[in-house]
Amino acid sequence: MKTVGELKKSFIADLSKARDLVSLEKIYRKYLGIKSGELTSILRSLKDLSASNRKKLGAEANTLKRFIQKELEKQKEELRGRSEVDSASMREVDVTAPGKRIERGSLHPITRTLDSIEEIFGQMGFEVALGPDLESEFYNFDALNIPQNHPARDLWDTFWLKDKGKGDISLLRTHTSPVQIRYMETHQPPFQIIAPGRVFRHEATDASHHFNFYQVEGLMVGEEVSVANFRHVITQFFRGFLKKDVNIRLRPSYFPFVEPGFEVDMSCVVCDGSGCSTCSKRGWLEMMGAGMVHPNVLRAVGYNPKFWQGFAFGMGVERLAMMKYKINDVRLFFSGDMRFLKQF
Ligand code: FA5
Repeated sequence: MKTVGELKKSFIADLSKARDLVSLEKIYRKYLGIKSGELTSILRSLKDLSASNRKKLGAEANTLKRFIQKELEKQKEELRGRSEVDSASMREVDVTAPGKRIERGSLHPITRTLDSIEEIFGQMGFEVALGPDLESEFYNFDALNIPQNHPARDLWDTFWLKDKGKGDISLLRTHTSPVQIRYMETHQPPFQIIAPGRVFRHEATDASHHFNFYQVEGLMVGEEVSVANFRHVITQFFRGFLKKDVNIRLRPSYFPFVEPGFEVDMSCVVCDGSGCSTCSKRGWLEMMGAGMVHPNVLRAVGYNPKFWQGFAFGMGVERLAMMKYKINDVRLFFSGDMRFLKQF
């Protein structure tokens, strides 16, 4: 029978040659197997020794037993880790593995609606102009004939940014109308443009109102532009957008940057005009504000109102999408709910 010291040496030599879990199992059995393990035999023979020898050899044998168990466990962990890395790297180059299915996304209904609006107006000769979401008080209000303390400012409460002492306080634009001013400052009539973009309002939400939504501004300036031109353009737009004739009505309304001003309502397609939560039981849904550009606005950008006149409108993109796709709540557009989005 080998001594405890010899067993330790031979165990270390065996362990250094082990390359897989099966060899480790064999080593375990060789030294600690219940029936014929070499160390097991020594442990079993302890009972036949004198008390003092038993104590000395017993301590040595048990120390070796714990050593063997610990070393085998350590080696096992290392081999397991290595095999995971190996199989992972094999997976990377396994050209026979089935491909991973890539989920296809789809365009958001607002993006689709904006694309469609741009296409229809594009066919009527309107160009696209853009402006910033973060506006100055001047473009959002003053230049649109809404000076400070004008009651109309209450209609468009918004999110204000801290004044950094430069005198021109910034805000999140409440409508796309500032793009009218920015465009007219750098262009000469005649022209016709649309300006799509995001707008913000500090107001409570409900089925047809959100604090963040999209508008498309329209502006046509020329020598003989009239309300009749506006009605024709907008009727053509609705026909192209909804692919059918719909009932619209022009309601007198007030916007400081137009005169006369009106609101354009469309017969609600969710309830066919009978009244529902989308149209607040009215049967009509307000789609846009519009009017003839106010002479003060034309003057402010250096146009002579005696020669130039034009119409302007600002339509709610979500409201249009709601009518087209029969969606009954504007909040769905911003919910990020995949069940809703996957339908488009
Ligand atoms: C305006 O924003 C004016 N700038 C429109 C305009 C442009 C008038 C040019 C005259 C000339 P109003 O606040 O009504 O107007 O908003 C225009 C449209 O945006 C509404 O008709 C509606 O379709 C949509 N809208 C308004 N508020 C909300 C809201 N909270 N959530 C969703 N859509 C809204």
